[in-house]
Amino acid sequence: MASVGQQGVAGVSHVFPLGSRLGEAGRLEIGGCDAIELAERFGTPAYVYAEDDIRARARAYMEAFRARADHFEIVYASKAFPCTAAYRLLVEEGLSCDVASGGELYLALKGGFPPERIYLHGNNKSEDELSQALEAGERMAPGQRVLLRVTPGISPSTHDYISTGQVDSKFGFVVDDVPRAVDRIRNLDLVGLHAHLGSQIFDLSPLEKLAEVLSSMGEYPLLNLGGGLGIAYTADDRPPSIEDYAETLLRSAPEGVTVLCEPGRSLVGNAGVTLYRVGTVKRIPGVRTYVAVDGGMSDNIRPMLYGARYEAEIADRFGGEVLCTIAGKHCESGDILVRDVLLDDPRPGDVLVIPATGAYGYAMASNYNGITRPPVIFCSGGEAREVVRRETYEDLTLRDV
Ligand SMILES: Cc1ncc(COP(=O)(O)O)c(C=O)c1O
Repeated sequence: MASVGQQGVAGVSHVFPLGSRLGEAGRLEIGGCDAIELAERFGTPAYVYAEDDIRARARAYMEAFRARADHFEIVYASKAFPCTAAYRLLVEEGLSCDVASGGELYLALKGGFPPERIYLHGNNKSEDELSQALEAGERMAPGQRVLLRVTPGISPSTHDYISTGQVDSKFGFVVDDVPRAVDRIRNLDLVGLHAHLGSQIFDLSPLEKLAEVLSSMGEYPLLNLGGGLGIAYTADDRPPSIEDYAETLLRSAPEGVTVLCEPGRSLVGNAGVTLYRVGTVKRIPGVRTYVAVDGGMSDNIRPMLYGARYEAEIADRFGGEVLCTIAGKHCESGDILVRDVLLDDPRPGDVLVIPATGAYGYAMASNYNGITRPPVIFCSGGEAREVVRRETYEDLTLRDV
């Protein structure tokens, strides 16, 4: 049996949310909803998620770990998509969650996570953020349960900006400094070690090494091995399955230890697509065809930040042979969402869809150029519901004093 996210449906690659298909007249459907009708009803750009996709991946994580371990926790790395509707869905699926700031902690609590299932981490937490976490947990230090973040000196093969496990990192304590750090927090209840090697990992072997290194650093009830499982952004990407990932993490974990992992992108990345409307098509003969859409770096900064690659399709004319570059509408030449993608004769007014935008798109969105941030739409069984509304121009002045 193919694992979650490894199979595509006829005409729609595995990069699209599970259950996506080309319906009547070749029109894309997500969660049973027609993409062009969604664009008309909610406007563009819009972040559209197949709710069942997120649930299926959450269940796949839970089942893969349950089959191999008695004690484990799947901790949603909520920085990937810190939206209360997503928190709500993942708390229902039995996950825990991690937050990297007071703001994410606030959202996780609003989204229904009980404090005892929330982990606060990252570098440089302020006194205020720590107090906020302690108050939420109704437990005051000393005696607070903590994990120690370790930089194990293992580099995964991924983009430098999303690698965190190497020695040259702002995160955590290098292995040699761990005993001193443990000594300094004697008044706290040190329950485990935590590390995160990086993101968009396709080669699992560094993760196996990580489990070995942390296990050798003392006996602790908890080992948090971070997140990072890669996802398919383009049709050629074949990330490891959730089962293989679970197998790798758990293979070298000592008996009786509770293993935690923190998936972000691999829970929500492929569940989401962004719908745009094509505004202009600029053909420069012999050079390039620019297809300009009504969003860009304000709703998806990843191509500019990491050189991230995506696919794109016209929502009712998949495939095509016109080599195009998808540009945003911002005042930056670098505002390019997808370079070199084949489309079917794009025209102004077309609905263009970029798949696999479910992680770190909404999360990193900005108001650059006074662009209002898109709504978030959840689709399931043919029903669409707006879980975050589009920003208004008025919202842009809300904080003015
Ligand atoms: C500590 C930690 N855990 C988990 C994650 C989630 O990574 P991913 O979304 O690649 O699974 C991150 C991402 O930056 C992280 O820093």
